[in-house]
Amino acid sequence: MSETIQLKIGDKTYDLPVIQGTEDEKAIDISKLRDLTGYVTLDIGYKNTGATKSAITFLDGEAGILKYRGYPIEQLAQKSTFLEVAYLLIYGELPTAGQLKEFQTKINKHTLVHEDLKKFFDGYPSHSHPMGQLTGLISSLSAFYPESLATPQTPEAIDETIIKLLAKMTTIVSWIYKKSLGHPVIYPQNKFDYVTNYLYMTFGQRTEEVTIDPVVVDAMNVLLILHADHEQNCSTSTVRIVGSSDSNLYSSISAGISALWGPLHGGANQAVIEMLEKIKADGGDTDKWIAKAKDKNDPFRLMGFGHRVYKNFDPRAKIIKKACDDILEKLGIDDEVLDIAKRLEEVALKDPYFVERKLYPNVDFYSGIIYRALGFPTEMFTVLFALGRLPGWIAQWKELRENKEPIGRPRQIYTGATTRDYVEISKR
Ligand code: CMC
Repeated sequence: MSETIQLKIGDKTYDLPVIQGTEDEKAIDISKLRDLTGYVTLDIGYKNTGATKSAITFLDGEAGILKYRGYPIEQLAQKSTFLEVAYLLIYGELPTAGQLKEFQTKINKHTLVHEDLKKFFDGYPSHSHPMGQLTGLISSLSAFYPESLATPQTPEAIDETIIKLLAKMTTIVSWIYKKSLGHPVIYPQNKFDYVTNYLYMTFGQRTEEVTIDPVVVDAMNVLLILHADHEQNCSTSTVRIVGSSDSNLYSSISAGISALWGPLHGGANQAVIEMLEKIKADGGDTDKWIAKAKDKNDPFRLMGFGHRVYKNFDPRAKIIKKACDDILEKLGIDDEVLDIAKRLEEVALKDPYFVERKLYPNVDFYSGIIYRALGFPTEMFTVLFALGRLPGWIAQWKELRENKEPIGRPRQIYTGATTRDYVEISKR
């Protein structure tokens, strides 16, 4: 017999079903609670609410475990490529060599972006924030590919949109970087693999043959893999909830990009470097800034520290910290902010404030230092997070559709005025 949990309200007892995941997590199914009892549950910020059943990513925040489709993040970061991980997330299995080649070939066919979209892009001021440009451009793709709006759609039509989005994302992200420099955009060269093509369009010049340093390609693959999915976080939940209204893939992903932008989420990578630079300019006194982060009257928070789910360590941060040392050494870069970051981490990890609250460095603490070493300006960092998270968002959107999930629509507890009579404006 399946497990149930008894809920007692007054003199009545209700049996609520227990749902168990494949990694033994348990949830009480409260979907019928209001019908049965008249009560809803309240969980502001969804701190303890399972919004869906998903077979994509598993994470155990207490044990610091992260797996995509069952594969540990450590193995994927070490052995795989970003495109292979994208395939794994979206289609559920690691591709064979033939499947991966076909995936790359299909993407290559769509890397060009409609020249009319470029006219909109040209209108953005060169100093506008890259994330603002990205949300607008990705949402605008729906206007150029109206077939993506049809509902319902065949799996083949959905797949076509997925491929187009993966392909055009790299081109659009590289355009945004080129605009920040005031340089002409570079068109894709489909002899390259996914990540190399992106780096070519980003760092290439029109006038000369460019070779992309394999150290940079490897570093980029690792960073993108580490960001590729993270179950029901703020932006992914946004993508799912927008997608649940049958909204098209482009607009759902654009909404996710907007959610990612905030400094409490993906925008933290930009905020971390800005914070480290500030500390450096202030003389590098890490104790002073740790004290500020602990001061409840000071709005300053240690950016890149803490996580809603990880309460032991963030496994992505462990990999990134090591990659950061390796890449800076390979590229021969000595960055003073890396020393400041390490000092901050050392002090914070011993400080009772951070220990008691289980605050550890998260994925964003060291990623910006690598992005900077690779040559990206600070404002591009969150766009790179979006490039990495794209396959995860797509996989989650696709899963929601395939599982025919209902439209997302939470309840609330109303705390406003009770009924009152309208007062004529002259009498107010
Ligand atoms: N610096 C100082 N204090 C902190 C920090 C921090 N970075 N993070 C949390 N706290 C304190 C917070 O003030 C609170 O203290 P108290 O219990 O005394 O009120 C306690 O720790 C719990 O914090 P919370 O804000 O209730 O925790 P949350 O789960 O709602 O927030 C978080 C998680 C990531 C938004 C938060 O830790 C934070 O703002 N960190 C800095 C921003 C950041 O690095 N974000 C990137 C997250 S990882 C990338 C991603 O996937 O989005």
